[in-house]
Amino acid sequence: MKSVLLSEKQIIDRINELAEQVADDYRAIGVQEDITLIAILKGSVYFLTDFSRALPMSTKLEFMVLSSYGAGTTSSGVIKILKDLDTDISGQHVLVVEDVVDTGNTITWLYDRLLERKPKSLKLVSLLRKPSAHGLPIPVDYIGFELPDEFVVGYGLDYDERYRDMPYIGTLKKEIYSN
Ligand code: IMP
Ligand code: MG
Repeated sequence: MKSVLLSEKQIIDRINELAEQVADDYRAIGVQEDITLIAILKGSVYFLTDFSRALPMSTKLEFMVLSSYGAGTTSSGVIKILKDLDTDISGQHVLVVEDVVDTGNTITWLYDRLLERKPKSLKLVSLLRKPSAHGLPIPVDYIGFELPDEFVVGYGLDYDERYRDMPYIGTLKKEIYSN
């Protein structure tokens, strides 16, 4: 690990704030129903479990697996659903829970696919956002932290499937990913 960017306490404190804010916003528009949280596997799992427990509302959990286009390679723009939702989200209040919005390709693509299913509302929360994600065509309603343009691991985020289980978020030493 090169450096710790976000400590365990910083992450949890911010998630508690986000959860309060999200709940306030739903209450302000009179939402009484369950919120359907959709997490994209696998990176968002740690955020989802802490966020859903902090959110003072009744929630349902749904998971999706999307084909990734591979880190460091140029995106073909082709994303596929490898595992779809188990339920019909039409008429539901849907909140997509993401770990990090980097280029925003994944979330932009998913947003349109989910809108086609006619949810009652559709919002996005991402724990992290990188600078390249500014100026996206879709709204990311809630952001935990703005990151510098660096590759990070921990708290669900991996490098080659490792480091997800670290309780904090940090940058990797260059030696680890440069060869
Ligand atoms: P995007 O489509 O470029 O926004 O990429 C989104 C996905 O890429 C995230 O959901 C992560 O799975 C992965 N990703 C982007 N940046 C990082 C990082 O710094 N560390 C680990 N995974 C990342
Ligand atoms: Mg991800």
